[in-house]
Amino acid sequence: MAESQPDGVSTITRDRLAELLNEDLSREYQAIISYVVYSQVLSGAQYTDIAAQLELHAKQELDHALIISRQIDYLGKMPAVTPKPVRTSKSATEMLRFDLENENETVRNYRDRVRQCEALGEYAMAEQIRQILVQEQDHQIDLAAALGEEVPDLSVGSKKRPLGKRRLKLAS
Ligand SMILES: [Fe+2]
Ligand SMILES: [Fe+2]
Repeated sequence: MAESQPDGVSTITRDRLAELLNEDLSREYQAIISYVVYSQVLSGAQYTDIAAQLELHAKQELDHALIISRQIDYLGKMPAVTPKPVRTSKSATEMLRFDLENENETVRNYRDRVRQCEALGEYAMAEQIRQILVQEQDHQIDLAAALGEEVPDLSVGSKKRPLGKRRLKLAS
């Protein structure tokens, strides 16, 4: 999953960016499917609020998929049609944990993508991805809260990317 370079910035090309955006698109499809299903099957009074939030996430993930597809088309490539595998569970807690893990992975990737877009001078694309990132971080917060946990610190293991956190604060 990781690039050979810390975040692939020094080696990025437009073709590689399109490939990576297609990976992002497959993750968005995965998120749509899991939120559609989980929002409906989570039952129990204690999950009423989070089930409603997951329904909203499903719609936002569709918006993200459309935005990412547009960027891939703009780069002259064909958007992917295959979702990453969706995990299921009979346990509500486990479902929420899968979602949180997927969101963590998504946030890590979009942080890289912003830097890669900027390295190519694609500032408008970087801006679109920043806006998606703001929503993905909200998804993380919703899921962590439902699990009664702190939002994971994704900067661990990203020591070579000291600008990451500060830049994200600008995106609102
Ligand atoms: Fe998304
Ligand atoms: Fe998300």
